[in-house]
Amino acid sequence: MSVNVAILGATGYTGAELIRLVSRHPNLSIRHLGAHSQAGKAAGEVLPNLSDDLATMPLLPANEPLSADIDLVFTALPHGAAAASVKAALDAGKKVVDLSADFRHQDKDVYAEAYGQGHPHPELLSQAIFGLTEYARDKLKGASLVANPGCYPTATLLPLLPLLKTGVVDTDNIIVDAKSGTSGAGRSAKTDLLYCEVNENVRAYGLPRHRHTWEMEEWACAFSGQKAKIRFVPHILPMTRGMLATLHLKGSNVAAWHDILSDQYAKESFVHVLPQGKLPQTSGVSGSNCCHIGVSVTGADEAVVVSCLDNLLKGAAGQAVQNANVMYDWEETLGLDVIAYWP
Ligand SMILES: NC(=O)c1ccc[n+]([C@@H]2O[C@H](COP(=O)([O-])OP(=O)(O)OC[C@H]3O[C@@H](n4cnc5c(N)ncnc54)[C@H](OP(=O)(O)O)[C@@H]3O)[C@@H](O)[C@H]2O)c1
Repeated sequence: MSVNVAILGATGYTGAELIRLVSRHPNLSIRHLGAHSQAGKAAGEVLPNLSDDLATMPLLPANEPLSADIDLVFTALPHGAAAASVKAALDAGKKVVDLSADFRHQDKDVYAEAYGQGHPHPELLSQAIFGLTEYARDKLKGASLVANPGCYPTATLLPLLPLLKTGVVDTDNIIVDAKSGTSGAGRSAKTDLLYCEVNENVRAYGLPRHRHTWEMEEWACAFSGQKAKIRFVPHILPMTRGMLATLHLKGSNVAAWHDILSDQYAKESFVHVLPQGKLPQTSGVSGSNCCHIGVSVTGADEAVVVSCLDNLLKGAAGQAVQNANVMYDWEETLGLDVIAYWP
């Protein structure tokens, strides 16, 4: 079976990663690359990693209609701008995996609070499936619109959910201290992302309440039934890709937490709980769709749980392809079975 794909936002960092993944996927075929300021150029003029047929594909404007033979659309656009393209694709009968935040909240008021702007198409929110794949498979099968989770929410929810579900975490005392490489902020020019501002530097940002906090709390509750208060502080580091979330947790039965996590993910292809005593590192997952989790018991009623993923893979394009595989009822690892590059 071959499914024809459009990638909108193909010139951005997650769009480029989608091109890389989709081009080696046995059941997906790239038919349309959409861009905005770079529209009109050939893809290879903007993306130095492309060659041959991919390099000569035209970058089409964002409002270019999707041809009838396109089945699936990945929208890798800024939030706010994505919603219109998602609606146009759905109206044209396409399936959509949206990598932006536009469909990650069930309530338009929560979206407005988190993003400081009204939702452009609130009527579509109820049909979006939040695609944290390991927790949403039943709903993803046959879905038309998948809201791909944010990178920080994915890095936080994967280690947190099994512990919340078993009721061992103190839900008032969750601290998530997280770090990201600069590709997490996208490719568009911003002064605070210039080399001189990021290199040899580490800083927190997004406080007092980073917009991903709403997403984490909403889906922590939806998937576990537990209302959790999450104190989340992200930091930007001078590296290209990679994300590490350190969860400082209190609760009961901490000696069992490693087993709880290991049992939950024992059969998963992409979520791996490291052996007791080992903690994950970003270079262990770079370029792969994996999330690595480690646990360290730090007291009678407290533990530190660390998770790592590649923000452009399991945090974005990789999980988007994983979700597409589930939507079409294919092997979930299709096109994603690469181990991390090292060193
Ligand atoms: N980066 C990450 O690690 C990450 C992780 C998870 C989710 N996300 C989300 O994924 C989406 C894409 O992120 P990114 O990092 O790939 O962004 P990016 O590198 O800034 O790329 C944005 C893309 O959208 C296009 N674009 C910009 N403004 C547009 C507009 N008004 N209308 C239509 N297209 C427009 C750009 O086209 P031109 O280049 O032609 O201008 C570019 O292709 C965002 O919503 C982001 O929050 C990102």
